Amino acid sequence: MKVLVIGGGAREHALCRSLSLDPDVTALHCAPGNAGIAEVAELHRVDALDGRAVADLAQRLAADLVVVGPEAPLVAGVADAVRDRGIPVFGPSAEAAQLEGSKAFAKDVMAAANVPTARAYLCTDEREVDEALDAFGPPYVVKDDGLAAGKGVVVTEDLPTARAHALACVGTPGGPAGATGRVVIEEFLDGPEVSLFAVTDGETVLPLQPAQDFKRALDADEGPNTGGMGAYSPLPWADPKLVDEVLATVLQPTVDELRRRGTPFSGLLYAGLAITSRGVRVIEFNARFGDPETQVVLARLKTPLAGLLHAAATGTLAAFPPLRWSDGAAVTVVIASHNYPGTPRTGDPIEGLADVADQDEHAYVLHAGTKLGESGEVLSAGGRVLSVTATGPDLSAARDRAYRGVARIRLDGAHHRTDIAAKAASAES
Ligand code: AMP
Ligand code: GLY
Repeated sequence: MKVLVIGGGAREHALCRSLSLDPDVTALHCAPGNAGIAEVAELHRVDALDGRAVADLAQRLAADLVVVGPEAPLVAGVADAVRDRGIPVFGPSAEAAQLEGSKAFAKDVMAAANVPTARAYLCTDEREVDEALDAFGPPYVVKDDGLAAGKGVVVTEDLPTARAHALACVGTPGGPAGATGRVVIEEFLDGPEVSLFAVTDGETVLPLQPAQDFKRALDADEGPNTGGMGAYSPLPWADPKLVDEVLATVLQPTVDELRRRGTPFSGLLYAGLAITSRGVRVIEFNARFGDPETQVVLARLKTPLAGLLHAAATGTLAAFPPLRWSDGAAVTVVIASHNYPGTPRTGDPIEGLADVADQDEHAYVLHAGTKLGESGEVLSAGGRVLSVTATGPDLSAARDRAYRGVARIRLDGAHHRTDIAAKAASAES
């Protein structure tokens, strides 16, 4: 099978790594990729947001499968452009990707499908904002309606901060770029968060193993929200029936509702969940693999990846054999540039990359924001620069290996969290 992956983050590096280990994959291509992906796939300079260019590339490569990694190309209709050429593509249509692209759309689908989520108001002006903030009280949860790379959500006890973000979103001068003029204000959900992914062809839904992400920039969940600073799987503290429950109450009803609307969702449905004292609630949906959770989920998946994604892309998941998983654990730790999640500093050399795998065969580096410099050196090129992923018989072992790998990497000004999977690892013993 010839596979083309679209995107260039650590999620796409994890996807490419798994695909490169699948004996059915005869050729692996990626656009645009990054310095790490270049070691396992042939890179192509194509704008990931340009559906026609991506479809042309897929056709030229005679790809049997295109896998679209990030949300922005999905929302821009890149999967549709490829599908229109008759090439199997893993990733939803632009219409179905609105599940991630618009918080308001997601809330509407959840209401129709009776999926448990936070109560919410969609506000378009100052009066509605004030009424909604008043109705819920602190802590306030204020969300941009559009795509915001995990950074469009403000959770705060402080009313002026919540109000300022909400007014910026509804289009007061000085609002964020891409503001849709709408803002979602919702009930605060207490309790641990779980990321549960499911592969679906629009009808059959195959859940993967759950993972936990660390969204805040600093240890002990302090600091601003980020795209994710680390992750681990499995979740020793979670109810073993969690996956079946979420399949029945969240994933299958959502997939059924989108099919009923004539916009079937095929690809990766990501449920971001809060396990509250009143039960499981959906915090958000995403229309693609999560980053960095993918790094740990794929590290534990034993089923070859290409066949699974191809079955979803061709509507044949009902006949797919049960997924196989490693009993062990995986931990990933993100190394971010100076100043991330603000405007990150880039262009710094990264050293010690080869040492990670040399010291331990169970640890490896997945690149995110990296590029090759003029003399072949690896340079930082984004906010989240790379993630060190490790596997082990349990979380403690995987965690030790991941942090030993992190200690080998040298990047000026970089920061990472030191408490990824710490609580879960200590609970496991
Ligand atoms: P989202 O972009 O919707 O995933 O939100 C990013 C993060 O904000 C989530 O992972 C949560 O940590 C937090 N968050 C979002 N919605 C809520 C909510 N209703 N209650 C509590 N925290 C939330
Ligand atoms: N790690 C959160 C996300 O991928 O949206």
